[in-house]
Amino acid sequence: MDQIVSLSRRRGFVFPSSEIYGGLGSTYDYGHYGVLLKNNIRQRWFEAMVLERDDIVALDSAVILHPRVWEASGHVEGFTDPLVDCRTCKLRFRADKLEDSQCGRKPSKHPGEFSECDLTEPRQFNLMFQTTVGPVEDSGSRAFLRPETAQGIFINFKNVLQIARRRPPFGIAQIGRSFRNEITPGNFLFRVREFEQMEMEFFVPPPDSDRWYRYWIDQRLGWYLRYGLRRSRLRVREHGPEERSHYSRGTSDIEYEYPIGWSELEGVANRGDFDLTRHTEYSTTKLEYVGPDGERYVPHVIEPAVSLERIIVAMLVDAYDEEVVGERERTVLRLHPEIAPVTAAILPLIAKDEGMVSKARTLYEELRKRRSVEYDDNGAIGRRYRRQDEIGTPWAFTIDEQTLSDDTVTVRDRDSLAQERLPIGGVRAWLDDALERDWKTPKGD
Ligand code: GAP
Repeated sequence: MDQIVSLSRRRGFVFPSSEIYGGLGSTYDYGHYGVLLKNNIRQRWFEAMVLERDDIVALDSAVILHPRVWEASGHVEGFTDPLVDCRTCKLRFRADKLEDSQCGRKPSKHPGEFSECDLTEPRQFNLMFQTTVGPVEDSGSRAFLRPETAQGIFINFKNVLQIARRRPPFGIAQIGRSFRNEITPGNFLFRVREFEQMEMEFFVPPPDSDRWYRYWIDQRLGWYLRYGLRRSRLRVREHGPEERSHYSRGTSDIEYEYPIGWSELEGVANRGDFDLTRHTEYSTTKLEYVGPDGERYVPHVIEPAVSLERIIVAMLVDAYDEEVVGERERTVLRLHPEIAPVTAAILPLIAKDEGMVSKARTLYEELRKRRSVEYDDNGAIGRRYRRQDEIGTPWAFTIDEQTLSDDTVTVRDRDSLAQERLPIGGVRAWLDDALERDWKTPKGD
């Protein structure tokens, strides 16, 4: 994890937030490449979940919803973690994660293991961030920042059913920020207090719910494989009944083997009719499906839910490699070409050669209209290649002496380091083809 954190910082993917004020624990800001990476992951999810399907529509609901939403959903009452305080070192820990926490005393031990440790009894701590709406701060103005995007979908069920004229099975997908006042955040982006969720609620006839639950586990697992994560680093773990959330009739985690061990990447839950029934009860608006023949029922809901942050960590960890090439070390991110922040680099071999610069800039201007490409004329060519390897750019096009005489360029492949020559006029089509090809990580399964 340290290598990933250091690369992210060095290359401007992710910075600790509020750094000039000493930082704010577990909060991060994204730099240029981080933004490009996030955009790509978001877009690939949106394509697979919405654009490539006829049965899912998009939604973008508000972050601050009516406070009753969170009563109906069970979050006011039950979205809590048990926490203990240490009266000696004044630190706060999750009571159920003491073995994963570090005591404030050195040498580092777990809370409760030092003779001076003085832990309180566990108390329930609600993870929702509170705010107030309007100019008066009283209990009537209390509201919450959403801890999940899902509830915004349930409360719009009727709108979508009527206006998008859908019938089960159909889904509503949403991408947006969620906020949780986590007691023990950490491990880089893995557990943060502000994150971007990508959730889809799939409404199905109740008898079909188990079939769709299995279907979505398979689909989501397939999405990770399609975008290059190694199969050996992924597994599906079904929750036991005691582990499930209050709303769940079945939950499976798609887990990734992070440097901290196997942990939840994405959750797929069968939420049954819990949410629609509760919102019907609390809002008195009937949330049900009425068919053309008068049949009526409350659909059951299958939910795949993940954060961009957990995907970013998994993809960076999976892609990271260090190797020696021709006696030189290189660090390379073997990201899927459709995930990599920059698709291609355009490199004039000699930065001061007007002929090379002119051809390189023309190529760059042509490609940048449709793709994320980078022009780089700074430093020796070897250094430029290594810089691109570190940010995961799959291909580099070099404009050299020969280009001036026959209008061909070399393309260098990030993974194999193979180089081939092609006409400069064919680069755009070559890139289109290369992106269409199936890609598999050279790191194996
Ligand atoms: N709507 C259901 C729901 O929110 P969850 O298991 O609490 O379920 C879903 O969260 C996903 O959101 C997780 O699988 C994980 O990918 C992501 N997630 C949850 N808490 C997170 C945090 N503190 N930091 C980063 N990602 C988080």
